[in-house]
Amino acid sequence: MRKIAVFGAGYIGLVTAACLAELGHTVAVRDIQDERIRLLKAGRVPIHEPGLGELITGNAERLTFTLSAEEALAGTEIVYVCVDTPPTAAGDADLSRVWSVIGSLKGAEHLKAVVVKSTVPVGTGARVRAVLDESDLAHVGYASNPEFTAEGQAVADFMRPDRVVVGASDEGVIRLVTELHEGVDGPVEVMDVASAEMVKLASNAMLMTRISFMNEIAVLCELTGADVEQVSRAVGLDHRIGPHFLRAGIGWGGSCFPKDSEALKQLASNTGHHTQLLNAAIEVNNLQKRRAIQKLKDALGGLGGAKIAVLGMTFKPGTDDMREAPSTVLAARLLAEGAKVTCWDPLAPDGQPEPWASAVRHGSPQEALAGADAAILATAWPELRDVPWADVRDTMRRPVLFDGRNHLDPATMRALGFTYMSVGRP
Ligand code: UDX
Repeated sequence: MRKIAVFGAGYIGLVTAACLAELGHTVAVRDIQDERIRLLKAGRVPIHEPGLGELITGNAERLTFTLSAEEALAGTEIVYVCVDTPPTAAGDADLSRVWSVIGSLKGAEHLKAVVVKSTVPVGTGARVRAVLDESDLAHVGYASNPEFTAEGQAVADFMRPDRVVVGASDEGVIRLVTELHEGVDGPVEVMDVASAEMVKLASNAMLMTRISFMNEIAVLCELTGADVEQVSRAVGLDHRIGPHFLRAGIGWGGSCFPKDSEALKQLASNTGHHTQLLNAAIEVNNLQKRRAIQKLKDALGGLGGAKIAVLGMTFKPGTDDMREAPSTVLAARLLAEGAKVTCWDPLAPDGQPEPWASAVRHGSPQEALAGADAAILATAWPELRDVPWADVRDTMRRPVLFDGRNHLDPATMRALGFTYMSVGRP
């Protein structure tokens, strides 16, 4: 069993650290945010992720949290870089946190390998290698080990992944990182560093493209009278296509897709290539929100002065993550059109910035809907299926509902007297 330091106690860092500890390794987690480390030391988990809290408490004797890089590095053989790489104004990935971790490794005498899990542009590994070679760490190996974890199922994604990707050129590091994953139920794919970096970006781009493709088909379904739910189900039954990421709706959001699509676009343009498919996928994703607003506008004959309830705020159900949530784009457009916005979400943290600061948040969908001229279902929370819609209808000023996730049954909603609109369904 190894002694590991994980730099970054964010979403990926915590999941990685907890799972490596569960596998029997000793893990020190280092972050620069005081409050985060204080919470973790007190046994509290600062993010919502099923199973993570149990894993952290269950492995407390092998997991430590610290603000000090020096403390995290004492006796450490492997450093995992799990810091965030947010987009710069140009859309590139900001690697300053990655470089700051690399800079703090000087003098780590037991260090054998640096493993980068953060999503980085292709070519970053080679640059880190060059920096290590110029320092006292020239003997330390380098590996890219991208993550493919989806929020809400991150622990399972780590423990039973479709694949573990290890990008490295030196046999010793390949062996080391492969051994670290003993106990993980999934195949290890070994490749060169640049390819491993590309696998992460390409996988995300593929998933985004699938969603946008089905969203475009949804538009055609609306124009021709077909039903995208039936179409996508049957298309997905083709084993060459598969059923996942074919759900039509108001499009993707989250901490990865929007950022990684921009980063890949930027990476391409830095090499002189203009991406075609990726740009189209991004454009379709933006269009889905504009189309949603247009549908409401048409149904109400204008949005000025209307009261619109936004049901669901997080970028997908089962998470408290508001990063790049499609609902935020919708709320901003509604307010810009002069509508009043009420909202409901079971997990979104309080105190969201604009546009939410201008919206009135309620504790239940029913309260958010009372007196509304229309509602948008933006996140497919299961509890929205249990709303007593017949009662709610009578409390709304106008029973207009745009279901941006095809979450409710059209026939049922129409039988209840709703003007019910969804995505790609007749
Ligand atoms: C994603 C990738 O799945 C993961 O592999 C990567 O490491 C990080 O990004 P995550 O951001 O947690 O994970 O969300 P995911 O479940 O993939 O959903 C992304 C967005 O796409 C959500 O807004 C979701 O609502 C939307 N989506 C997903 C669709 O609109 N239709 C679908 O069929 C699937």
